[in-house]
Amino acid sequence: MATENLSKAKNAKQDEFYTQYADIEKEVNAYLEFNPDTFKDKTILLPCDDPEWSNFTRYFALHFEDLGLRKLISTSYAPESKRLKQELELTLFETESPQFDPQKAQTKGKIFVLDRDIDGDGKIDINDLQWEYLEGDGDFRSAEVKAFRDKADIIITNPPFSLFREFFAWLMESGKEFLVICNKNSVTYKEIFPYIKNNKVWVGTRNWAGGMWFETTNLDDFDKIVCGIYMKNTPSIWFTNLEHGRRHQPLSLMTMADNLKFSRHKEIKGKQAYDKYDNYDVIEVPYTDAIPSDYDGVMGVPISFLDKYCPEQFEIVGMAEDNGKGFSGKESKWDGVNPHCVVNGKNMFKRIFIRKKR
Ligand SMILES: C[S@@+](CC[C@H](N)C(=O)[O-])C[C@H]1O[C@@H](n2cnc3c(N)ncnc32)[C@H](O)[C@@H]1O
Repeated sequence: MATENLSKAKNAKQDEFYTQYADIEKEVNAYLEFNPDTFKDKTILLPCDDPEWSNFTRYFALHFEDLGLRKLISTSYAPESKRLKQELELTLFETESPQFDPQKAQTKGKIFVLDRDIDGDGKIDINDLQWEYLEGDGDFRSAEVKAFRDKADIIITNPPFSLFREFFAWLMESGKEFLVICNKNSVTYKEIFPYIKNNKVWVGTRNWAGGMWFETTNLDDFDKIVCGIYMKNTPSIWFTNLEHGRRHQPLSLMTMADNLKFSRHKEIKGKQAYDKYDNYDVIEVPYTDAIPSDYDGVMGVPISFLDKYCPEQFEIVGMAEDNGKGFSGKESKWDGVNPHCVVNGKNMFKRIFIRKKR
């Protein structure tokens, strides 16, 4: 029991951070640039949200009309289910609403809906959001929230990272379009990577460098305070199956001969040839910008390659696990998720196997 509580507390710590408005705006704008009608006539579901203070709800409610939305639904998880260290203070918005119920406020999730002009000011915006308590606690896995998922066109959120595998399976089961935030490493989970390999899902438009900054309620685990707000940096990225332009921009690369002569990386420059793995017939390319443009065989690249992956330029053929796991000493095939790569007896980090598109 004590272990269970500890792991729940650890998960709550991992899960309670909130996306900044500017990050949402910038990412959404990139899809609109590619297709201004990306969200037109769509019902958007924002699950795992905290609509009273969420920037997702705020952004989509404020832009309801410019995006041409049909309906916006946002659901939250009950405070009691969150298992927070500090008790969550209820908002005035909730406590001053006629439907406020102190018991339900702790144990039930909430649903916020925006689909028409309620206040009669001639526009549909954040002031027209209506809310009520859910029947259950708002768990995304509940039948109640699943029913909203199944009626939505696009699912958008920053979900609980501790449940990301389950959340991704929940998304895939729905067959819906989605735009979510996840940890960089999640894209290499064996349950998720095959979808990337098959170009069913891909990373968003935000650059991978530098991680993402979130607002956090964990006062004992933050990286900086900005204007009184506790901020935490995590290695996060956007993850989606919404089409965007950046992923169709091919990388500009040098030939193998030029890389060996002029590369800015000491691991490549001045060598006779690229290293080959001891256990795969694959060359080691330690940096994405060192991928040779004229090599036809399979190449092992860091996972950050996915940030630059253009499916018209390369195909992904597989992945090798992180150093240390499962090397059998034999050459492996590369379809799927395989034992880690070894160069001259040294274990490498996770690698993605790619090949030039024929
Ligand atoms: C990373 S936070 C992001 C919140 C919000 N989407 C945002 O970005 O501002 C994830 C949220 O999911 C909630 N959560 C945790 N487990 C959940 C579950 N099983 N079902 C629904 N929500 C959950 C957490 O309490 C937290 O509010």
